[in-house]
Amino acid sequence: MQHNSRWHLLETADEVALAVYDEILEAAQEAIKRQGKFKLVLAGGSTPEKVYKLLAKSDADWARWYIYYGDERCLPVDHAERNSLMATHCFLENVAIPEAHVFTMPAELGPEIGAKEYREIVINALPFDMVLLGMGEDGHTASLFPGHQHKQDELVHAVYNSPKPPSERMSISAEALSSTHQLIIMVTGANKQDAVNAWRSGQDLPVATINPKNTIDIYIDKDAFKS
Ligand code: 6PG
Repeated sequence: MQHNSRWHLLETADEVALAVYDEILEAAQEAIKRQGKFKLVLAGGSTPEKVYKLLAKSDADWARWYIYYGDERCLPVDHAERNSLMATHCFLENVAIPEAHVFTMPAELGPEIGAKEYREIVINALPFDMVLLGMGEDGHTASLFPGHQHKQDELVHAVYNSPKPPSERMSISAEALSSTHQLIIMVTGANKQDAVNAWRSGQDLPVATINPKNTIDIYIDKDAFKS
């Protein structure tokens, strides 16, 4: 488990979402004050939906936000299972972030071409100001899965044989996800208990390979934390 992690244990998934929402807005204000922009990497999956819906109803200096994705499934752009479709419906189509500031992963082009194209985006974005991540039941994060080998120096990986459908994906690498001022990992639900216990007992899970210089804030509900 990362040495520099701060665990925030909350009662419910709603409380986790509210706490993460507050962190994001505060980070955005600080980044915009510091450098005139806020570079945020969105998490995929279902956990962040509540956070995105809260952001959709809030007021922020949206013109200075820049949006990236941690990973994407290799599906058509309008496919219901795309992380970008969820983020758009829950968040992005409801706020005035300029389209030119939203860097959707071209995962519909397939893992290799998608990853190659997105490397250019990531090179120009690093370091991020905030990275949001979830965690799967096997300890995966973004589309970095246990047992998968990747070239360490890559910024964006092509992913095949994902144990979580669809099998083809693309993912920002652990190294690039670690190049961030702040990292928030959101974990909720009893189905994550085993992975959380494995993580806390020091197992070398993909979620444990994300190592930014600064403190990692882990927001977790009671259902996921029960040992
Ligand atoms: C994906 C996500 C993935 C997700 C975890 C947790 O594309 O599937 O990026 O890493 O964050 O699997 O998913 P849930 O939030 O749905 O539990």
